[in-house]
Amino acid sequence: MNFGYKNMDYTLQILSGDGIGTEIVNEAQKVIGWINSNTDITIKTHEDLIGGQAYDEYGTPLADETLENCRKSDAILMGAVGGPKWDNVEYNKRPEAGLLRLRKELDLFANLRPALVFDALIDASTLKPEIVRGLDILIVRELTSGVYFGEPRGIKDIGNGQRRGINTQSYTTEEIKRVARVAFDLARKRSNKVHSCEKANVMESGKLWREEVSTLRAEEFSDVTLEHMYADNCAMQLLKNPSQFDVIVTDNLFGDILSDEAAMLTGSLGMLPSASLGHKGSSALYEPVHGSAPDIAGQGKANPLATILSLAMCLRYSFDRGDIAEKIENSVQKVLNDGIRTEDIMTKGCLEVSTSEMGDAIVKSLGQ
Ligand code: IPM
Ligand code: MG
Repeated sequence: MNFGYKNMDYTLQILSGDGIGTEIVNEAQKVIGWINSNTDITIKTHEDLIGGQAYDEYGTPLADETLENCRKSDAILMGAVGGPKWDNVEYNKRPEAGLLRLRKELDLFANLRPALVFDALIDASTLKPEIVRGLDILIVRELTSGVYFGEPRGIKDIGNGQRRGINTQSYTTEEIKRVARVAFDLARKRSNKVHSCEKANVMESGKLWREEVSTLRAEEFSDVTLEHMYADNCAMQLLKNPSQFDVIVTDNLFGDILSDEAAMLTGSLGMLPSASLGHKGSSALYEPVHGSAPDIAGQGKANPLATILSLAMCLRYSFDRGDIAEKIENSVQKVLNDGIRTEDIMTKGCLEVSTSEMGDAIVKSLGQ
């Protein structure tokens, strides 16, 4: 097929990770196979370990060599990390620490988490159809600062058999402005509206967040509508009237929570892709928003669509091939319209399929 572009080769570092990671990434690999045989681009994949798998094999959840390979590749596709097996591993060696290190080292500060309700999945949402129909929200979560990384942190002995757990919420002007800039830029290509969420009523970091976002809007984005909202109110409004939102920009912790909530509006956490972007020209990370779901790992029940949609985001943002991304997104839509479902999004009258049958259905729908 000729899309009228130059032939291009891209390198993709694949990190399947733990739990359902391998199963879901396998299905994305099928889509990569389709891309390599049916489009003018070639994606060369290289596989390595992250999370608990990497801890078991290398004694660290992200080996230096893996990190260097990630840095050198054009993009990274990850499955998921974590699981009860590593519950007692020391904090900085836990599976999650590998993912956090990857985000931090590559300075992937802008995490894009779109929550899109597919018409075919309206009944899979626990909310009323009239509330979620046509929903299209983009959460832009700050990913490399805030309470996830702030110092001081730790657990201290404070005597008398008492301990104190400490984490620090911290943001600088530049950290706030650079992620808000991404949100405003993306809003311009959508409905031109940004909600900025923090807790300025109780946190100085939230007050600074609010001030810097307002300043940036005044300086560079006065054409974009900006509303400030407390994060707890945002959680409530997402359930009450989600269609008021276009782009939501928020910090690392609130973004983690609000994006899980937004995901459920769409019917299943198994549907939500994400992109973590850093600086122009450097490698970006694509991963589903859901976790490693150890309870269903290895049973062929996992929904691979969030991972396949993450691959689509990779094509759009890292390889600049929105045309191929759209083809993949349309195939997902078509397969859902045909009533093909994994267990998590199953409704009456549809056909329940396994993880791998879902991947096959997507490839079949992509065609030759
Ligand atoms: C996410 C996850 C991660 C996070 C974990 C696995 C470290 O929940 O990507 O939303 O808290 O950021
Ligand atoms: Mg999360």
